[in-house]
Amino acid sequence: MSSIVCHPILDSQNGIATDAVIKKQRPPPLVLSRPKDLIQEACQRLVLSDQQLRRIMQSMEKSMEQGLATSTKKVAVKMLPTYVDSVPNGTESGDFLALDLGGTNFRVLHIKLQGKETKMTGKIFRVPESIMRGTGEALFDHIAGCMAKFMGENDLKDAQKLPLGFTFSFPCEQEGLTKGKLVTWTKGFKASGVEGVDVVTLLHEACHRRKDIDIDVVALLNDTVGTLMACAFQENSCQIGVIVGTGTNACYMERLDRIPKLAGYVDEHGVTPEEMIINTEWGAFGDDGALDFLRTEWDEVVDRESINPGQHLYEKMISGMYMGECARVVLEDLAKQGLLFGGNSDAISVPHCFPTKFVSEIDSDLLEDDDRTFQKTYQILEDIGVEMITANDCANVAYVCSLISTRAAHLTAAGIAMLLNRMNKKHVTVGVDGSVYRFHPTYPTLLDAKIGELIVGDIEYKLMLSEDGSGRGAALVAAVATRLKEEKLAASLSSSSSNQ
Ligand code: GLC
Repeated sequence: MSSIVCHPILDSQNGIATDAVIKKQRPPPLVLSRPKDLIQEACQRLVLSDQQLRRIMQSMEKSMEQGLATSTKKVAVKMLPTYVDSVPNGTESGDFLALDLGGTNFRVLHIKLQGKETKMTGKIFRVPESIMRGTGEALFDHIAGCMAKFMGENDLKDAQKLPLGFTFSFPCEQEGLTKGKLVTWTKGFKASGVEGVDVVTLLHEACHRRKDIDIDVVALLNDTVGTLMACAFQENSCQIGVIVGTGTNACYMERLDRIPKLAGYVDEHGVTPEEMIINTEWGAFGDDGALDFLRTEWDEVVDRESINPGQHLYEKMISGMYMGECARVVLEDLAKQGLLFGGNSDAISVPHCFPTKFVSEIDSDLLEDDDRTFQKTYQILEDIGVEMITANDCANVAYVCSLISTRAAHLTAAGIAMLLNRMNKKHVTVGVDGSVYRFHPTYPTLLDAKIGELIVGDIEYKLMLSEDGSGRGAALVAAVATRLKEEKLAASLSSSSSNQ
């Protein structure tokens, strides 16, 4: 590998490379530098003003209200009731199993809750693409097979059936805590015969086919709900759970009197709860055209080439599955316009050659490298086969990456600020998890700063990194469900004995 060190001088106003290229061990190839404002102008649409973000907030709240009013398939933002209406009270304890399916990995966990402490053992299994996109039966057989392996290795097969929390991180229309039909696959999954079907039944059927394991599913939940619950266990002010990982989504505590589609709902105790956690599925915001005013032609390319065109458009502007691809499509276009790589777009035109982790690494270059040597950026571009990389190219690629990740953070901030304003509670903790939030160097700070600018009144909020919501959160939902079941049993026993 060559050891070029490029030092473009950055325009302090906008971070774009000027033509004054500088110190180097080996000169970058001579290409005609383009005026910096051409790149800036071409990328202008990626910069969102506060006015645009406020418009998003308004229109997202409108979409959410439509989702709360009706269960029809037509609404973009589904606002799915989760049937979780209480957060942990800190007394939850016991042994649980948790399953976590939501991306290319599937996890099986054995979790012991003891006071505020959690002990976990678990195993991660890959879900090959052929299984993600094969038949539903093969997918659930794979899950059951992984469970059997884990249970066998941990002497759990013969143990009394442990209560199981199933984190299934896709939109599910739940009918109760233990039943939910998949509305539509997201995040690259496409297994046939699952949409419209109860996934807990599919899991039971797969276990029965194997005959060697038996399970007791006491809760089916979304990863956002697990995130909220895991944080609420630490901080009982946690009322919002957000994921910014492969996909993006949020859940929050909504008042029942603001959920018209649950009018008349009573729980198994005959009680109407005051609140319930709603899984917004905000990734689908914009699927009805609400985001068209700011989607760019690059977003259209990313969507068109995805496995589910026209679906989850907000998610496609934010989450880890798409952020790198979006940056790549912009870079390809700039190269084709002759503004990058001496006009050679061959290497950067290969779909998915620029994963989101490159955006994080290049944004780290911007942050950590005072001398603006862009070594990492250069190395990444060279590794993907770009020829003729100049110092200006490195700085401009970093500029594009920072625009894409800032836009993602600001779009997410609009969603969270809207929820905070809507809930209008004095102090709310927002539990957040996901690879983009965890690993992108500036995303959390950008998100936090923008939420602060978009909230109104004297609301106080705090972002809290959730510790493994999909695992621990699943055990907590299972624990709350088990506790409520036991309380109910005890109440009915005592009322029947006092009646005798
Ligand atoms: C996708 C799924 C959603 C999940 C999110 C984060 O948007 O539809 O259910 O919560 O990804 O994993």
